[in-house]
Amino acid sequence: MTDVLDGVRDHYRATGLTERLKTALAALGPEDQQLTSQQLAALDQFHTRGLAATAELGKLAGVTAGMSVLDVGSGVGGPARFLAATRGCQVTGVDLSEPFVDAARYLTERTGQSGQVSFETASALELPFDAGRFDVVLLQHVAMNISDRTRLYHEIRRVLKSGGMFAIFDVVLNDGEPHYPVLWARTPATSFLLTAAATRAAIEPAGFRTLAWQDDTEVAKAWIAQLRASGPPPSPNLGVVMGPDFAQLSANLGRNLMEGRLGILTAVFEAASINT
Ligand SMILES: C[S@@+](CC[C@H](N)C(=O)[O-])C[C@H]1O[C@@H](n2cnc3c(N)ncnc32)[C@H](O)[C@@H]1O
Repeated sequence: MTDVLDGVRDHYRATGLTERLKTALAALGPEDQQLTSQQLAALDQFHTRGLAATAELGKLAGVTAGMSVLDVGSGVGGPARFLAATRGCQVTGVDLSEPFVDAARYLTERTGQSGQVSFETASALELPFDAGRFDVVLLQHVAMNISDRTRLYHEIRRVLKSGGMFAIFDVVLNDGEPHYPVLWARTPATSFLLTAAATRAAIEPAGFRTLAWQDDTEVAKAWIAQLRASGPPPSPNLGVVMGPDFAQLSANLGRNLMEGRLGILTAVFEAASINT
């Protein structure tokens, strides 16, 4: 287990990330100038369909002002900041990667949201929170890095209130072996993809009832086709976070989707009463 987590940490090692971000963000204005989620979207939404996907997930999960939201595998914090800004909720992010958490805190200072959004370094398999603490838990493009799904979903159920919402946005196995490297794994050793059906079969027994179930593969393919047609990505982008092979990692996700090897799943579950 530790070996697997070390492998995943290594994939997202991002040495010197906060310093690189400071340099890259100088293009957007001086250090004391407050930034917006929109300005950061090309580098802080680490999943297919960027801000649009986060906005949709927040809406499907029914996130409203005053709610306490946990973003598991929060990356550099883009989804947490965007939901806090647009929905008025409090968001806590946890991520395995210390450099990502450090960068997430820095970017949150730059957007002036440190009172509303916070981050901790932790594993999704051992969440550092009391039972029943959150109204909503989000998991966006993270599960494919996690082999022990039974433990993952039980841990998420534990920290959710009964009646709380669990919203996922996952890359799933479809038909055939994926081409590597991809954005979450440079080799199959740290990639633990499940089919959509197997994902649901792992989530429901942990104490969840399915409320929404969407195959978003075609929407994701259209988004990728549009990106390709619109030329080079805006700068700064996720290349600052993932390094020089980002373009290849990203292109392989597109190729896997276009060839039908992988799919994209959005789903929302309600946390059943803990004793049922
Ligand atoms: C592709 S990124 C997605 C980040 C973020 N959810 C987003 O959409 O912008 C995957 C993230 O999951 C984190 N992650 C992977 N395995 C994890 C685990 N066991 N516990 C916590 N975080 C994990 C990685 O460190 C990485 O930040």
